[in-house]
Amino acid sequence: MGLSQLARLVKVLTLPVIALAMILVNCSGAPPPPTHPTPEQQASADQLLTGPDWYRHAVFYEVNTRSFSDSNGDGIGDLAGLTSRLDYLKDLGIDAIWMMPIMPTPFFDSGYDIADYRTINPDYGDMAAFDALVAAAHQRKIRVMMDLVLNHTSSEHAWFKDSSSSATGTYADWYVWSDTPSRADVGCGTYSPQFGDSAWTFVPARNQYYFHRFYPQQPDLNYRNPAVVAETLDTVKFWLGKGVDGFRCDVIGLLFESATGCDMIPETVDYIKQLRAVLDQFPDRAMVAETDIGLGPAPYFGSGTDMFHMAFNFHYGYLWGLAFLGQNATNVYSALGPVVTDYPPGAQDASLIGSHDVARAWSHASQLAWRQQRAVEISMFTKATPFVYYGDELSVRDGTTFVVDSRDSARTPMPWTPSPGHDFSTATPWIPFSDGADQTNVQTEDADPSSMLTFYRQLLTFRRGHAVWGTGDMSLITLDNPTLLALVRQVAQEAYLVVESFSEDPQQATGQVTNLPAVGPVVWGNGQASIDGTNLHVQLPGAGSAVFKLGAP
Ligand code: NOJ
Ligand code: CA
Repeated sequence: MGLSQLARLVKVLTLPVIALAMILVNCSGAPPPPTHPTPEQQASADQLLTGPDWYRHAVFYEVNTRSFSDSNGDGIGDLAGLTSRLDYLKDLGIDAIWMMPIMPTPFFDSGYDIADYRTINPDYGDMAAFDALVAAAHQRKIRVMMDLVLNHTSSEHAWFKDSSSSATGTYADWYVWSDTPSRADVGCGTYSPQFGDSAWTFVPARNQYYFHRFYPQQPDLNYRNPAVVAETLDTVKFWLGKGVDGFRCDVIGLLFESATGCDMIPETVDYIKQLRAVLDQFPDRAMVAETDIGLGPAPYFGSGTDMFHMAFNFHYGYLWGLAFLGQNATNVYSALGPVVTDYPPGAQDASLIGSHDVARAWSHASQLAWRQQRAVEISMFTKATPFVYYGDELSVRDGTTFVVDSRDSARTPMPWTPSPGHDFSTATPWIPFSDGADQTNVQTEDADPSSMLTFYRQLLTFRRGHAVWGTGDMSLITLDNPTLLALVRQVAQEAYLVVESFSEDPQQATGQVTNLPAVGPVVWGNGQASIDGTNLHVQLPGAGSAVFKLGAP
């Protein structure tokens, strides 16, 4: 071998080594955060996730089965496809899934119009496929939560078909009927422009109108009829008996109507308590409320042990993008304030930055990776159980083709590989992929140390097995600079100071603190902090964040 050949060989051999070294040591000189937990972290996580409080330490993943993975080549994601991807979720650090509705449906509202509560939508498989999914998930210590849509059924449900055909049949009184398109005891008979131009639809066979808070194909059930209460609670028992770990409860505040109010009125609160009593008959089950953003989560908790285990904090989850647009953390402080001051003991916030009802996190972040990263950090570092919306870990873009309505932008197929079909299906998918799926896919992002997926892996690994993030006390620190957010998390064994920036420029701030343990090293991100008397000084680079360990080293 000649000298020049040897030099070429050395170059070929050393280049990957240099590249690897660059990956392992980032520009600040510190090694990048690990993407997988240590065995000790995993053992601690396993312990925290055992027993009735598991949901406080779990990371949830909202999955749209229709768009996750297709096993039989019809272009529609299904239960067997989801089962085949559980290892991906496990490896990502997901402890529980919430599945959007998987029951039979004419699909006027993407399955939130259920035609039968006790069977599986044939597009997605059958009960055997569901049982196999639950068993495979449980084998991997992943819990399974279903969507419980109790306020309304599909207009194609057998109950409604009977109810709308005569005023004297078995189900005549299972829905809310009126001779006119209004009713004095249904004060909220208005409409939401998203779902049509009236909350009342005429049925000639009954010569009457029925009430619907959503699309006309979603008639509201009449909860003043005890048979409706009994049947829906029995449905809940049916799924719990099949081994599901709990429910995400759709628009749960709207079950009962009255002349003066239709959201979380006393009758609905009473129903929720009955629902909780049913869950409590089964070990280690939990439910999370879809809350009204105006009411906030606090009313859904009751005493802390008699209503919901968790409730979504949409004030943060749906409005965080505005805080970044305005480079101002004030709204985030006001979304987190009630968690500290208004929640009863035992209540657990549910935090998210995306869902099937809003545009993709990437759009809320104005296509800036740092904004999504800071937003998801806040979701993971505040006192809450975090919910990741499928595909957000890849920063999947909003789609532009709508099958049902504009919310389909956030319901596009999961891209697994860069290949043209992205390994979602062998057929044309039921809805096109979002743009950019050749880059924003699992395989490509897994190989990229600076991808959003790698970031999510690092963040989830950082939290793993530390009780402080799920249940540690939280206190918010008021700063003299509105572009920064600061908070402290604390359990007996460990405490952290978290600082997040909403600004692209370097920022510093001072806040008043008492009894704060000494500021130790940065354990996540990059920044500086010090305490002088009761003054806490913090400093962050532009677009940055930092977590400082507190207390003696
Ligand atoms: C809330 C669900 O999240 C949404 O997707 C649906 O349209 C309405 N409830 C009606 O069920
Ligand atoms: Ca399929």
